[in-house]
Amino acid sequence: MKVLLLNGSPRKGNTMTALNALKEGLAKIPEAEVTEIIAEDQNIIPCKACNACMSMSRCIFADDSPEINAAVEEADAIVFATPVYWWGMTAQLKLIVDKFYARSAKLKGPKKVGSIVVGEAELDDPEYDIIATQIRCICEHLGWEAVFTKSYMANKPADLKGDEAAMQEIAGLAELLK
Ligand SMILES: Cc1cc2nc3c(=O)[nH]c(=O)nc-3n(C[C@H](O)[C@H](O)[C@H](O)COP(=O)(O)O)c2cc1C
Repeated sequence: MKVLLLNGSPRKGNTMTALNALKEGLAKIPEAEVTEIIAEDQNIIPCKACNACMSMSRCIFADDSPEINAAVEEADAIVFATPVYWWGMTAQLKLIVDKFYARSAKLKGPKKVGSIVVGEAELDDPEYDIIATQIRCICEHLGWEAVFTKSYMANKPADLKGDEAAMQEIAGLAELLK
């Protein structure tokens, strides 16, 4: 069971804390092989809509997207983890998502998908639904199964660490990826 974690935060803060809790849960699943991609560390050239990828099945520009798409293709489960930036996922994570376009036919298939979103706003603010809806639409388009869309309120980098209930809940989400 290959699990791919896509971390959209540029800092070591709440998203990292959430993914660490999830990794603790995944560590209890012997068959889980976990890979994390930190979007901030990737070299991704923004999609130019040139459509060269339609014949090449990869981006014509030299960036890290072919390796990332290969990891997405191989994964049995994927978790999108992102802070809210301006009511959406971070630009770093969106750059990666846009490059799914280069291999969307190959990325289709049975995968379990979760999303973890952290933001400073109250959980009844619209950004959490906006991002969860976007993730669900991507899943529907690619034939993936959205198994959880979770949101947490946290702002300063250490906020989520102090939320014991959230930490436990996130660790438990690992079971849904099986
Ligand atoms: C550029 C920027 C835009 C943000 N926009 C929002 C927003 O629209 N809604 C929200 O709830 N939080 C927003 N935030 C707050 C972050 O989502 C919040 O601090 C989060 O905990 C950061 O996650 P991290 O610690 O994993 O980086 C924004 C933060 C930044 C830096």
